Amino acid sequence: MHADVDGAVRALQRGALVILPTETVYGLACDAGNPRAVAAVFAAKGRPQFNPLIAHVTGLEAALRIAALDARARRLAEAFWPGPLTLVAPIIDASAVCDLARAGLDTVAVRAPDHPLARAVLEAFGEPVAAPSANRSGRPSPTRFADAVEETGASVAAALDGGPCRIGLESTVVGLAQDELVLLRPGGVSRDEIEAVAGPVRRGLGEAAGSPGRLARHYAPAKPLRLDVAAPSAAAAYLGFGPPVRCGPEVWNLSPTGDLQEAAANLFAFLRAADRSAAAWIETAPIPSTGLGEAINDRLRRAAGHVG
Ligand code: TXA
Ligand code: MG
Repeated sequence: MHADVDGAVRALQRGALVILPTETVYGLACDAGNPRAVAAVFAAKGRPQFNPLIAHVTGLEAALRIAALDARARRLAEAFWPGPLTLVAPIIDASAVCDLARAGLDTVAVRAPDHPLARAVLEAFGEPVAAPSANRSGRPSPTRFADAVEETGASVAAALDGGPCRIGLESTVVGLAQDELVLLRPGGVSRDEIEAVAGPVRRGLGEAAGSPGRLARHYAPAKPLRLDVAAPSAAAAYLGFGPPVRCGPEVWNLSPTGDLQEAAANLFAFLRAADRSAAAWIETAPIPSTGLGEAINDRLRRAAGHVG
């Protein structure tokens, strides 16, 4: 599909929805200041409740117009933006990111995505863009254009094809409202990378407390999922990691060399492929919890219906 940035911007301006590629996952984007457009996003996703959305901006300067970012937050933004980091901070301009987009909270989640098409749209639009992942509620996030169109394409006025998402996992969400940094959702920037810039990060309390959008069953394929399986059953679809332990059809190796970045980029697309296979259930290999492995294992636990 032709990447029509102007068409996408016009759609946002009239309150319509847009499939927007980012480096993490595809987003279902709308004008963050337009409550009717935000309501249409919730309806298109079939979210069971109104969870707050991330406001996407071009960078730190634009973020400072809507969020009260302290010195520590600015350091994080300077280190990781544009990129897969979302900061949750007190809202300054409640008209630019409407109440419904924030689910009535007095905080706002803000990030500057690192994808040329997302950046072009944000620059031309000039205002924050609310964009949850473009999947229907509870399903794996789309990391390929065709997956995004399959999930929510029927609800949009424009869809930009940005190719496969480079990171493949959603952004890391860090809360700054208190004295300390809180990891509300592990994601594309690892905890180690954040701690190297800003000091210790506490793991989020119960998901419901800090980041209301996090459900126990989320990112889920339709088929049952069994985790940490080193010796896979021949009857299952298998997502491997590292040197192959099983070959043949219905095996997808997230990274034969054991590279966590490669595994992250493949995760959701392979989960979808395994879900489309003839097997009755899916098994996944053990994956180390270091670096991006923390976020990969978080998504897999939720996809299997286990609380994180
Ligand atoms: O990589 C990403 O973050 C993607 C791309 C499209 O940017 N977006 C994404 O959005 O994953 P979504 O809506 O699927 O997840 C947003 C997460 C949810 O867990 C939500 O609860 C949390 O951010 N969140 C948003 N606003 C918040 C707030 N004010 N306080 C705490 N958590 C918040
Ligand atoms: Mg999501």
